[in-house]
Amino acid sequence: MPRQVYLQTFGCQMNERDSEEILGMLAARGYGIVRREEDADIILLNTCSVRAHAEDRAFGKMGAVQRLKQERPHLVLGVLGCMAKAQREEIFRRLPQVDLVAGPAEIYDLPDLLAKIAEKRQREGLGAPARLMAVDRKVRPLAQKPAGEWRRGRATAFVTIMEGCDKKCAYCIVPMTRGQEVSRPLGEILEEVRRLARAGYKQVTLLGQNVNSYGKRFPDGSGYLGPKRRERLLARAADGSLDDGIGLCDFPVLLRRIDAETGVPWVKFTTSHPFDAHERLFLAMAECRSVCEYLHLPVQSGSDRLLRAMRRGYTTEAYLAKVARLRELVPGVSLSTDIIVGFPGETDEEFEATRALMARVRYDSAFIFKYSPRPGTEAAGWVDDVPRAVKEARHRALLALQEQISREKLEQWVGREAEVLIEERNRRGQLAGHTRGHLNVVCDGPEAAIGEMALVRVRRVTATTLVGTLA
Ligand code: 5AD
Ligand code: SF4
Repeated sequence: MPRQVYLQTFGCQMNERDSEEILGMLAARGYGIVRREEDADIILLNTCSVRAHAEDRAFGKMGAVQRLKQERPHLVLGVLGCMAKAQREEIFRRLPQVDLVAGPAEIYDLPDLLAKIAEKRQREGLGAPARLMAVDRKVRPLAQKPAGEWRRGRATAFVTIMEGCDKKCAYCIVPMTRGQEVSRPLGEILEEVRRLARAGYKQVTLLGQNVNSYGKRFPDGSGYLGPKRRERLLARAADGSLDDGIGLCDFPVLLRRIDAETGVPWVKFTTSHPFDAHERLFLAMAECRSVCEYLHLPVQSGSDRLLRAMRRGYTTEAYLAKVARLRELVPGVSLSTDIIVGFPGETDEEFEATRALMARVRYDSAFIFKYSPRPGTEAAGWVDDVPRAVKEARHRALLALQEQISREKLEQWVGREAEVLIEERNRRGQLAGHTRGHLNVVCDGPEAAIGEMALVRVRRVTATTLVGTLA
């Protein structure tokens, strides 16, 4: 029976955490986890569908992997994750050697699915690929989350707090691949963070497609449901001191409880939808010592017309007001964002509005993407009318602007000391980590520093990184 697993991950941090869960589950069942494809007899790709480019990469990779089957017919090949769900038919059509296609809601079924493939082979021999497809669940059955802990890093750990997304952004495939929002019960999260803190982890990163709507729906059907009820409850909680005593357990409450009850030194979180990021979040960030001064707040566009077309639910004015309030309440906070250029109908003026917004906010970092239509989304029905060359020029222009801003902001650190969590040794052999504001830092130093907080005196900067020496 095939027992050695190689797993490669594409896409976001949620996918990285899913991959850790998958490896934990398989290791607990006696599978070996290997670092090289050559050593594996089960090759799994945990894929992403967010942009055409992500899918192209996964198809390319699996195409190369399936050729290995000619020499090693016993290989089991699986495509997991968002692309498995979005492209289920297409995968078997383009990749005839694939044995398994399983969506994000089916990760806990993997041991059973692999066992089924092994049984089938025992019955029928190596002949044709198993072509097993498991993609139909609407939500991940969180109650079935198995034991079996596996984490890639020693210093920081991801903790999933919610699954799925209830938003309807016109360009985004995630609601289709990850399904409806469900939050993990508060007690379970607190327990996991406590365990990680006891095990010596210095930071947890709370993960969800939109962490700010944590608590809306729990697996047992409880939670605050619907924006009206939410608004009423939030109004009653305007002083920020709310707890779940009145039946509301939302993201700011979760942050406060983690801060008060787990002992983990640093807490970061991603991703925040601006529509659901409120004053109470900023207050929790300001008042909780462990919660780091860093917010990823994707704006997507600086044009109100495009924000409406994207169905983002906020205007640039509302967004900028939130940023201003955040900066008032959390001085020195780092901000990052996501931006899409070349959304259907984006004019030169609308693009310029995005450029102006970036120049005004002065993000510490920004992820800039060229729009690609995602099958099944609302925007896929609109003409993708911004020519490729224009998308590319706009992409380059924003990258250049952000690089200049990032560099100027980083340069302010030269000569100063930064508090850094040292996370790993990078490929060049330097120690690498992040500040509370999630700035990249590298320095020379001993192995023993990994997993520790350190003071680093910043000597110089690159476009994206502070370079220093241990103080
Ligand atoms: N095309 C380009 N970028 C996209 N994103 C999501 N969907 C698309 C798409 N169809 C970007 C958004 C989101 C990030 C994760 O990916 O900026 O915040
Ligand atoms: Fe990619 Fe989005 Fe799925 Fe993450 S949730 S893997 S970014 S499609």
